[in-house]
Amino acid sequence: MRIYKTSDYNTLSQKAAALIAAQVVQKPVSVLGLATGSSPIGIYKQLIQWHHEGILDFSQVSTVNLDEYKGLPRDNVQSYYYFMNENLFKHININPESTYIPDGMESDDAKECSAYESVINNMGGVDLQLLGLGYNGHIGFNEPADNFAKATHCVDLQKSTIDANKRFFASAEDVPKQAYTMGCGTIMRARKIVLIASGAEKADIIAKALEGPVTPQVPASILQFHPDVTIVATADALTKISGETI
Ligand code: GLP
Repeated sequence: MRIYKTSDYNTLSQKAAALIAAQVVQKPVSVLGLATGSSPIGIYKQLIQWHHEGILDFSQVSTVNLDEYKGLPRDNVQSYYYFMNENLFKHININPESTYIPDGMESDDAKECSAYESVINNMGGVDLQLLGLGYNGHIGFNEPADNFAKATHCVDLQKSTIDANKRFFASAEDVPKQAYTMGCGTIMRARKIVLIASGAEKADIIAKALEGPVTPQVPASILQFHPDVTIVATADALTKISGETI
């Protein structure tokens, strides 16, 4: 595991964007696993800028997103479909048919989850998976649990996650109570993982995830077992870790 320490959010965004750009330049047909939340927005801005400058070509890239709220249609401004379109896809030359996000309007959990796993398998797996980190240690929407979920599944969101995400909605009641998410197993099958974390309020959970016991109660801790993980985090998010940083 490599841990890059950056002075601020802008530098974090540039450094993590550079890792994604390197992936796309080295393998133009890359499958990128993408994330939502506030943390990746700066990365997407940087990728858009490099695309506009002619440095990055996304025409052969495919993407799979980590998760989607269950029950939100694609045109709902809080859906992750809407987020990805607004913050990345509509600004770059990616083929919309090569971008995949779980269908939040599919009510048949088993059908949607197995279809999503098939999409990922048929693409040959994820080359580089970008991850944010929830305050309770969730990755995607894998909430603290008694075991690590192996594959895409439907989760009940925990109160702490609903509270953390209610800032994007009119009220906590409007936050969907369930989501479809890749499992920890799906995430671990990505060939490379880049996890980003910004701000002092992530310091406790980053330390637990990277240096605490590997436990499904801290879903991100499973990343300690992945052979190619890069953490890009701001200095204030890394104050509680003892390991070496770059
Ligand atoms: C949501 C997403 C996660 C994301 C997390 C952290 O719950 N499902 O994938 O990592 O938020 O968000 P933020 O980056 O805004 O702290």
